[in-house]
Amino acid sequence: MEQPIGIFDSGVGGLSVWKEVVQLLPNESIVYFADSLNCPYGSKKVKQIIELTDKSIKLLLKENCKLIIVACNTATAAAINYLRTNYKIPFVGMEPATKPAAIKTQTNSIGILATEGTFNGELFKNTSNEYAKNISLHLQIGYGLVELVEDGFFKGDKINKLLKKYLLPMLENNADNVVLGCTHFPFLKDSIQKIVGDKVRLIDPAPAIAKRTKFLLEENELLAKNNNKPKYSFFTTGNNTTLQNLLKSFKLVNNPEIIELKSN
Ligand code: DGL
Repeated sequence: MEQPIGIFDSGVGGLSVWKEVVQLLPNESIVYFADSLNCPYGSKKVKQIIELTDKSIKLLLKENCKLIIVACNTATAAAINYLRTNYKIPFVGMEPATKPAAIKTQTNSIGILATEGTFNGELFKNTSNEYAKNISLHLQIGYGLVELVEDGFFKGDKINKLLKKYLLPMLENNADNVVLGCTHFPFLKDSIQKIVGDKVRLIDPAPAIAKRTKFLLEENELLAKNNNKPKYSFFTTGNNTTLQNLLKSFKLVNNPEIIELKSN
């Protein structure tokens, strides 16, 4: 059997990346790992995020993954250097899409919604310094949003109340691009768009991550053959309800196999 791609997130957020990868690379088998028991990672210490990420990556390596996407901005910020130093396979990491937003903005003002861990990472600081030096960046930690998405809330009063608190100051700052700097946030896209209006562009890096994955598979001669029958499997350290519901809503896979791990 062809080796699978691994996709890791602290929870269900990485499914926003999984969906793009499945559509761009339909021959590839994929193992998805959600560490929902330990979610959110965003407010945890770097050392702890590295330990948790490493545990999950070890599981994906046991599943014989040929390439792993760290579909979590927070885990990438804390652990991507560690992973690249310690393991031989290629890793695709994620960071807020500050660069495309900086290129597209016409008001010279962008809003970025991400976690504490992502904003504190070197990656975010370096990219901002390199590409957005003369742009007004409105940074906002999305306190509480990841937890609500994990519990299956994508719209409604609770979500709207938090989103308004986080997004309205961005609009006051004249932001015309809002970066979704956490993989859980694309599931809130409709709610976010309603608050910011049609004129504000939401930037989700997931399609670019799928393209980067394809490029790396080609470059490393790891692409699955055209006649490969892909298999999709899912592991979670938490409850599988939201994972199951999101997968159903994508309509890309019938009866997904979701394995609940007792602990991680
Ligand atoms: N999906 C993760 C990210 O992209 C979630 C963060 C968390 O666990 O706090 O950052």
